[in-house]
Amino acid sequence: MKVLLLGSGGREHALAWALSGSPLCDRLFIAPGNPGTALCGENVALDMDDHAALVAFALAEKIGLVVIGPEAPLVDGAADALRAAGVKAFGPSAAAARLEGSKSFTKELCAEAGIPTAAFARFDNAEAALRYVREKGAPIVVKADGLAAGKGVVVAQSLDEAQDAIAMMFGGGLGAAGAEVVIEEFLEGEEVSFFALCDGDAAIPLASAQDHKRVGDGDVGPNTGGMGAYSPAPALTPDLQRQVMDEIINPTVAAMKAKGAPFTGVFFAGLMLTREGPKLIEYNVRFGDPECEAIMPRLKTDLVAALLAACDGVLHDFDVRLWDRAALTVVMAANGYPGVVEKGSPIRGVEKAEAMDEVLVFHAGTALKDGALVANGGRVLAVTATAPTIAEAQRRAYAAVDAIDWPGGFCRRDIGWRALSR
Ligand code: AMP
Ligand code: GLY
Repeated sequence: MKVLLLGSGGREHALAWALSGSPLCDRLFIAPGNPGTALCGENVALDMDDHAALVAFALAEKIGLVVIGPEAPLVDGAADALRAAGVKAFGPSAAAARLEGSKSFTKELCAEAGIPTAAFARFDNAEAALRYVREKGAPIVVKADGLAAGKGVVVAQSLDEAQDAIAMMFGGGLGAAGAEVVIEEFLEGEEVSFFALCDGDAAIPLASAQDHKRVGDGDVGPNTGGMGAYSPAPALTPDLQRQVMDEIINPTVAAMKAKGAPFTGVFFAGLMLTREGPKLIEYNVRFGDPECEAIMPRLKTDLVAALLAACDGVLHDFDVRLWDRAALTVVMAANGYPGVVEKGSPIRGVEKAEAMDEVLVFHAGTALKDGALVANGGRVLAVTATAPTIAEAQRRAYAAVDAIDWPGGFCRRDIGWRALSR
C-alpha cells in the first residue's frame, strides 16, 4: 500500500525509516519531509495546514495510510478531515487531541477519572492566580493552557519567579496560549516518557524513553525541544509500567470514549515517578522528538501493521515486540539553539558516521545546497546507536557524533547519564 507521512523533523525521518522498511509499504510519501526522509521515500511539497490539499492528494494517490507526525495538524483536525473523506489516518481527532492542546482539559479529565496527577487550579485572570501562588508558596509550576511550542511551562523555584511567569502569560507574552493559566503542585521524582498505541477502545504499551530537555550538560540552561534520549528508561520497571497502564492510560482510554472522543493514535505520557507512584505530568498525542528516534530502531514489530491495527480498532489482538536492545540518540543542534541560530553552515562526515556499527543518523533541520548538506534549523541531526546496553549505545552514538565534522553545531556530551548512574 501507499503511505503518506506528515512532518519534517528527526521524528519523521525515524518514522519514515521504519515505515519504508515494512513489506506492507510499497511507496512512501513524506510531506514536506527533509533531506533524510528523501532517502526513505518521496518528499512532496504539501502544506500540512491545508486539509483540502491533503485529502485531494490522498485520494488521487490512493493512499492506504496517512501518519501524522506533529501535534499542530492533529489539534487542527487533519485526521478528522482525512477520515471524513474515507482515508485511513493514524492520529487522534481534534476532539481527542485536546489531551495535548488544552492542559485544563487534561487536568479535568484526570480529576473525573481519578488519574494521579499534580494538584492544580485554573485561572483566567492574573489577580486570582497571584493570590493562589502566594497562598501555596514555591516551588510551584505555572503553565499556559494552550499550545506554546514548549515555552508554556515555568517551574518556579521562588515566588518571584512564579509571579513573573503569571504576569508574562496574562500580559500576552505567549499570545492566545496564555489567556488561561493552570497552576500546579510541584512534583518531585524522576521523569520518564511512556508511549502506548490506542485504537479508541484498547491501548497497548509501546516503549519507554527518557528525554533531556535542558540545553546544557548536567541538565542546566534553557529548555529545548529535547537534546537526546534513550530507550528503554530503566526507571520505569515492568511493575511500574503495568501500574501506568492500569492507573493512567486505561482510565484515559475509557474517559475519552465516554466523552464521545475516542482516542486513536499514540499516547505520549510525560510521567513523574514520585514516592507515591507514577503521576501524569502531561499528555502529548504524537510521538516524541527525539524519543521516537530512540524507539523506532528497537521495534521488531512491523510499524505499518501496528499503526493499521490502531486505525482498524483491532489492537486488542495485537502485540508490539521490541528487540532486546537499548538505543540512544544524541541531538546535534546549531550553535545558538534554543535561541537564534545561523542557517547554512556545512555538515560533513554523515556518511562516515552512518557506516559505523548499528548507527543511524536521522535528519531534522537539514537542507541540501548545491548537493552538499547544510544546517537549516535549530535541531539538525539525531545521531542514534543501538547496542545490548545503554552504556554501549552511548559509546557508539558519541563515536558517530565525533565522525561528523560540523563546526557550526554542538551537542550535549552526557546523554544517558541518569540511566548510567543507576
Ligand atoms: P512541558 O513543556 O509541558 O513538557 O513541561 C516542561 C517540563 O516542566 C516537564 O518536562 C517537567 O520537567 C516540568 N514540569 C511540568 N509540570 C511539572 C510539575 N507539576 N512538577 C514538576 N515539574 C513539572
Ligand atoms: N521530546 C519532547 C517532545 O517531543 O515534546
